[in-house]
Amino acid sequence: MKVIRFHAYGGPEVLRYEDTDIPTINADEVLVRVRSAGVSPFDAKVRQGRYKDFYGPLPHILGWDLSGDVFAVGPDVSLVRKGDAVFGYVDGHRMGGAYAEYAVLKKDEVVHKPPHVSYHEAAAVAMNGLTAWQALFDTAHLAKGQTVLIHAAAGGIGHLAVQFAKWKGAHVIGTASAKNRKFVLSLGADECIDYVTTPFESAVKDVDLVLDTIAGDTLKRSFSVVKKTGVVVTVVDFEGIKEASRYGVKGLTVFVKPNTKQLSEISHLMEQGKLKVQIEKVFPLQEARNAHVLCETGHGRGKIILTVP
Ligand SMILES: NC(=O)c1ccc[n+]([C@@H]2O[C@H](COP(=O)([O-])OP(=O)(O)OC[C@H]3O[C@@H](n4cnc5c(N)ncnc54)[C@H](OP(=O)(O)O)[C@@H]3O)[C@@H](O)[C@H]2O)c1
Repeated sequence: MKVIRFHAYGGPEVLRYEDTDIPTINADEVLVRVRSAGVSPFDAKVRQGRYKDFYGPLPHILGWDLSGDVFAVGPDVSLVRKGDAVFGYVDGHRMGGAYAEYAVLKKDEVVHKPPHVSYHEAAAVAMNGLTAWQALFDTAHLAKGQTVLIHAAAGGIGHLAVQFAKWKGAHVIGTASAKNRKFVLSLGADECIDYVTTPFESAVKDVDLVLDTIAGDTLKRSFSVVKKTGVVVTVVDFEGIKEASRYGVKGLTVFVKPNTKQLSEISHLMEQGKLKVQIEKVFPLQEARNAHVLCETGHGRGKIILTVP
């Protein structure tokens, strides 16, 4: 099969379009003929070598969210069958493998793709949808009537988080640059702060929850806009969040886990037209390097996708 993989850590140039064997599956696994694979800033961090001690020896095939058609299933798999259109998120504790013609998911990582949801949309929502859902609902327990500040509200995670929070009945404030203001408001956000011209802490105070997808200074400044009983949840800065207690607020972290029940709920929202998934750009698999260059600008709107013909 054709894959994008890398044999040394480094910049986008280490990504190579190569041939390798189609993977074999265990009893509890599903082999998917990939149609779309998501590209995340997380992929770029792994490529750079940020987690090199964690993922074991090279070469690696990146990609944790994907959609496609089931090609084969192990004997313990009953919920999907050969030929079914599916999508899913490969647990980030394993190397992903989605930048390829064929990829393996565990049976509890994959669900049916609704017919009215495209392969690209399904791949785009798998990891980011679960991350937003688990941050807002499982971790911060966002409730109707609460106010939430969502950083990078136009980003891959942020644009889904805005919609989930509105769906829950929260008052939603997003941060984005001017070019994304209309987009963020179109997702249902009640307010959008241009973080380039307005320090968000001068425009917001006493929120119940901040969702941080930026880290560093943005996270640090977020502690002061949360009310005393409030929560800051970060998906990126697991060190910086430790300072939350100094500000008298709760600081929590999320590392996304596979969850088929949540993926099904999310895809149901998409099917009902209640969740809009934004695709920044689609690249052919062999152009993964360019996809990484774009991803690393940190200014995409929605998700970057690789299409696997
Ligand atoms: N913990 C987990 O389980 C988990 C899972 C998935 C991803 N992640 C991590 O989550 C992070 C976000 O991922 P993503 O896919 O959502 O990123 P992304 O789509 O690449 O984010 C791009 C967005 O960030 C906005 N942005 C950039 N700087 C900003 C700032 N200072 N303030 C507000 N918005 C800003 C940009 O808006 P403008 O263009 O308007 O500037 C753009 O829309 C990544 O670091 C990723 O590795 C964590």
